[in-house]
Amino acid sequence: MSLIVENLSVSFGNQEILRDINLNLEQSEIIAILGPSGCGKTTLLRTISGLQEPNFGKISLQGEPIEHVTCEQRGIGMLFQKPVLFPFKDVLGNILFAYQRKEERNMDDVYSILKEMGLRGKEHQAIETLSGGEAQRVVLARALLTNPKLLLLDEPLSALDVDLRRKIAQEMRSTLKARGIPAIHVTHDPVEASIIGDRVIHWNELQPGGVDEE
Ligand SMILES: Nc1ncnc2c1ncn2[C@@H]1O[C@H](COP(=O)(O)OP(=O)(O)OP(=O)(O)O)[C@@H](O)[C@H]1O
Ligand SMILES: [Mg+2]
Repeated sequence: MSLIVENLSVSFGNQEILRDINLNLEQSEIIAILGPSGCGKTTLLRTISGLQEPNFGKISLQGEPIEHVTCEQRGIGMLFQKPVLFPFKDVLGNILFAYQRKEERNMDDVYSILKEMGLRGKEHQAIETLSGGEAQRVVLARALLTNPKLLLLDEPLSALDVDLRRKIAQEMRSTLKARGIPAIHVTHDPVEASIIGDRVIHWNELQPGGVDEE
């Protein structure tokens, strides 16, 4: 198993958002989670990544418990709905943030990933001039260069039109599979979910009695 989540619960005040969630991911498995707005999908991803502390439950990654490992040390990549990029750096400058130190940079990897993401020739383009799809590709390229043990994708394609969203979902799947990176992809689009996921999980399967299905 690459990820095991056991009996995970998260409350905000007296409101229990995640109740007794159990979820397993096989090695290199990609799962897609579908669920209505407000049911707790982002909270689940934030808790797995270490941005949110659970009230209860166990999380292990590649066989190691990670509840007490800091967010930075978990080796988990996350993509959000809005691409998070440094506006004053160009495409290449943003991608190089994958490396903490200059000596770690592997420019062969950088250029091969730029090519794979269709960003070759755009290295010095300003972030504000990128299309929404290109901006998410930059974020994905940067995340992949960190060799994450797990990638969490929180509706990264939801701002794109439906054709582009599904096209990029297919590309993302191929890229993740080629690298053997397991991922959890959250979306509201059932077609996108079935394109990217080896399995599609509806929120109600994860949390029976939770917010009603879409
Ligand atoms: N830090 C917080 N403090 C208080 N309440 C929170 C906090 N974070 C999330 N919530 C609440 O938890 C619930 C679940 O939020 P979450 O963002 O996980 O939903 P979601 O499934 O990702 O929804 P969407 O599909 O709209 O992104 C919401 O009611 C939200 O207001
Ligand atoms: Mg969300």
